[in-house]
Amino acid sequence: MTDAAVSGRPLPAGRAKDIARAFLPNLPIGNRYDYYYVGAKLRSDPLYPGVLHALRGTTAPVLDLGCGLGLLAHTLRQDGQSQVYRGVDNDSAKILRAGRVATKAGLRDTHFEVVDLANTLPTHTGSVAILDVLQYLDAESQRGLLHAVARMLEGDARLVMRAALDGGGRRSRTTRITDRLANLIGWMGSRPRHYPTREGLEAILGEAGLRTEFRPLYGNTPFNHWLIVAQR
Ligand SMILES: C[S@@+](CC[C@H](N)C(=O)[O-])C[C@H]1O[C@@H](n2cnc3c(N)ncnc32)[C@H](O)[C@@H]1O
Repeated sequence: MTDAAVSGRPLPAGRAKDIARAFLPNLPIGNRYDYYYVGAKLRSDPLYPGVLHALRGTTAPVLDLGCGLGLLAHTLRQDGQSQVYRGVDNDSAKILRAGRVATKAGLRDTHFEVVDLANTLPTHTGSVAILDVLQYLDAESQRGLLHAVARMLEGDARLVMRAALDGGGRRSRTTRITDRLANLIGWMGSRPRHYPTREGLEAILGEAGLRTEFRPLYGNTPFNHWLIVAQR
């Protein structure tokens, strides 16, 4: 890995702003919360350069589990990546906004739907992204999900995850507190259930027949976020 993806830098400010603009309300008096949130997130979090790097050069369709506002779709298209994209999330309000904004921004081959991963798993063949979502499922659901996802990977497909790992240190504690607060203030409808350890994830992904690569992806944030890329 050679670019900003490796150094843990976020998207350049101009690129972050271009994406955030799509989240501006249609009317000047409309709600600008998503616009400010998206701009701040993309300018400060190294997540997307890391994920874009991992998917670059692949052609398999991408299923984004727990897609939120669909920022991965925007960053893929901005990066010139044209894989068919499908985002699912159990927050129907976010899915509605994600779909509206993707249409307004003219993103091609992009679809969104409401799915609760705690009890349903979409059918898919191709790459899978699971970005900052795993901790909202209990340990058993995480295991079931990852085994099912492993069976979706064919050809050049990749599993690209960012996970908040349970490492016991200050970063892990900060992640837990922030996730809990996000749920209490209502930004995150789900409450965190289980933070996996690196060893636990390596064991599950290994059992599922995948080769995995782990590296820290927290940049200047205080969280214990790791990028995990897996393939057959
Ligand atoms: C921290 S956000 C990450 C959003 C997106 N992946 C990103 O990186 O911008 C976690 C997302 O997981 C979703 N989520 C949590 N539990 C879920 C579940 N059981 N099924 C589907 N989505 C879920 C939340 O609604 C939220 O959008």
